Amino acid sequence: MSKLITVFGATGQQGGSVIRTILQDASLSKEFKIRGITRDISKPAAQALVQQGVEIKNADMNSKDSLTQALKGSHSVFLVTTPDWGNAGSDAELVHGKNVADVAKETGVQHLIFSSLLNVTETSGGKLTHVPHFDHKAEVEKYIRSTGVPATFVLPGYFMSNYSVFGMLRKGEDDVYNLAYPVGKDAPFPLIDIATDLGKYVAAALKGRSDVLGSQILAAADYYSPSRILVEFEEVTGKKTNFVQVDSETYKSFMPGPMGEEMLENHLFIESPGYYNGKSLKESNDLLKKHGYEATSWKQFLEKNKDSL
Ligand SMILES: NC(=O)c1ccc[n+]([C@@H]2O[C@H](COP(=O)([O-])OP(=O)(O)OC[C@H]3O[C@@H](n4cnc5c(N)ncnc54)[C@H](OP(=O)(O)O)[C@@H]3O)[C@@H](O)[C@H]2O)c1
Repeated sequence: MSKLITVFGATGQQGGSVIRTILQDASLSKEFKIRGITRDISKPAAQALVQQGVEIKNADMNSKDSLTQALKGSHSVFLVTTPDWGNAGSDAELVHGKNVADVAKETGVQHLIFSSLLNVTETSGGKLTHVPHFDHKAEVEKYIRSTGVPATFVLPGYFMSNYSVFGMLRKGEDDVYNLAYPVGKDAPFPLIDIATDLGKYVAAALKGRSDVLGSQILAAADYYSPSRILVEFEEVTGKKTNFVQVDSETYKSFMPGPMGEEMLENHLFIESPGYYNGKSLKESNDLLKKHGYEATSWKQFLEKNKDSL
């Protein structure tokens, strides 16, 4: 009988990627039945999954009762949490992550794969204290470890889609694409094509469960400097680019309220000590290859998306 994997964020980028990768993988699609979680079964993204034969269940990470039903019978779980961006000081991610960890413990989950990140406050030695969407994930990781639930931590890199969907590469009136950052042109950004590749790292964790339990998998194709990001963008699209390093106050003014401070410190962290605190991506990408996957490069991402840029 196949095992059950329950996927949070099924209607979003990360959970959606996990589901697509499992469905397309010859061995995982036999080994696992998939249950996708949403707060609204009627939404089109949920209904599209039903059409593909995925069981869709209603649950909210705020409600432990709904989580008990959602996790019932699950061998594995993929968990992604999201911050309550409009609500400064919210600890929603912490509450959600801990609720799922507690219920995973109670229901005997055998493999909890959590989309984690580093603790910026601790890793920067207390210099950068305003990046809760990293710190809270790291705290959830610590909490999961304390429960004893067998777990693996997949740490997604900086989304390539930040440049397309969120318009970080902004086309000026002169048709030149501008990239403005509060860091230098050599800062190392570990990039991931999140919708295509996050599922590959999770699939590698499922296939190599006994080797990876307790470890952190760094989910990024490579480190890219802003210079390389723009050179390759020009090569693929034929469009002109311009890099501007702005001061902290200017960068903060790009975003409303506390979001400016959070994004500023998030980027300063990428420059030093580093998104993954200087760790190499080799081990994680070797793991991908071992299980038959390859990460998408920035150039390949641009080739796929150049018409929508
Ligand atoms: N942008 C970057 O460069 C970057 C880098 C690393 C990590 N991240 C992190 O990535 C995360 C976003 O991931 P994503 O892009 O996959 O998110 P997304 O596409 O916005 O999807 C979020 C998912 O979470 C579900 N969800 C939200 N609240 C829920 C609740 N209370 N109970 C149950 N499900 C809930 C939603 O489901 P329904 O709406 O269907 O219920 C949705 O499927 C954020 O935490 C962010 O910090 C971002």
